Amino acid sequence: MKTVSPFLELEDTPRVEVMFCDEALSLPQGGNLAAALLAAGVGVFRHTPVSGAPRGPFCMMGACFDCLVEIDGVVRQACMIEVTEGLQIKMPHQTEAKDETA
Ligand code: FES
Repeated sequence: MKTVSPFLELEDTPRVEVMFCDEALSLPQGGNLAAALLAAGVGVFRHTPVSGAPRGPFCMMGACFDCLVEIDGVVRQACMIEVTEGLQIKMPHQTEAKDETA
């Protein structure tokens, strides 16, 4: 799932730990969550509920909804969220997608 990221951080900011799909990630505190996940090598944020096609951030300004993630049980746009300590992030509809393949 992870690839080498083409994104580089411009400054040395404090890092905090978050969980993405049961994987611990160290992200820059206060950074844009979508950008930070991309920089950490996460390219797929969710799968579409109908076809299961992978989706990741596209517009980075709250318009496309391709960056949807589930944070603490609430589905939100990752490009509109700041990185804070202890975020529990999952792919939305993760349970439903597993049920469809069973
Ligand atoms: S990347 Fe388009 S809404 Fe977040």
